[in-house]
Amino acid sequence: MIKIAVLVSGSGSNLQALIDANLSGKIAGVISNKPDTFALKRAQKAGIATAVIEHKQYPNREAFDDVMHQQLLDWDIDLVVLAGFMRILSTKFVNAWEGKMVNIHPSLLPHYKGMHTHQRVLNTGDTLHGCTVHYVTAELDAGQALAQGVIQVHTHDNLATLASRVHVLEHVIYPQVVEWICTGAIQHSVQGVLYRGHVIQEPVQFCKI
Ligand code: GRF
Repeated sequence: MIKIAVLVSGSGSNLQALIDANLSGKIAGVISNKPDTFALKRAQKAGIATAVIEHKQYPNREAFDDVMHQQLLDWDIDLVVLAGFMRILSTKFVNAWEGKMVNIHPSLLPHYKGMHTHQRVLNTGDTLHGCTVHYVTAELDAGQALAQGVIQVHTHDNLATLASRVHVLEHVIYPQVVEWICTGAIQHSVQGVLYRGHVIQEPVQFCKI
């Protein structure tokens, strides 16, 4: 059984969706870089091991990442799932987990990498928005996209409604993609990303609401 670690910094609603999904893999641990996150409470309630590794206590990014890396090794982790983890990771750490670390980003990548995605979509006047699950590489939000969920932006949408609707979609697609990885339906290989045995160039788009 695949052992999963979820890295969090905040409320952890995606963590909750992963817990509730009863994945084929086991969520073996949750790491938070902040001590008071609601995500930690969710993990504890579900009986999942937790570790608080505060980035502020380390002299630099690499030192912080080294401690996280060791914790992941101690838990014998196969897959790292970033779920609202608000730290940029060092190249060394990312390379160590290449093909074994995924993130969910609230935009249709490659559009709107980085922060404030919902506001930027509204400012631009886009009619489509959504979220993307992707492998994590050293370049921010640039690893291969595995799946996307798309929503329509309505004329009456504002920051709150848009963020909320994307969040709902995240809770559907993230557990699905993690489950696909757990069961081997998605595989990282030298040929590229395999989905059900076939190399895919484009993310699976399995949700449109
Ligand atoms: C989500 O919007 C996700 O796209 C982004 O961080 C947020 C985490 O939310 N990466 P939550 O902590 O899972 O509620």
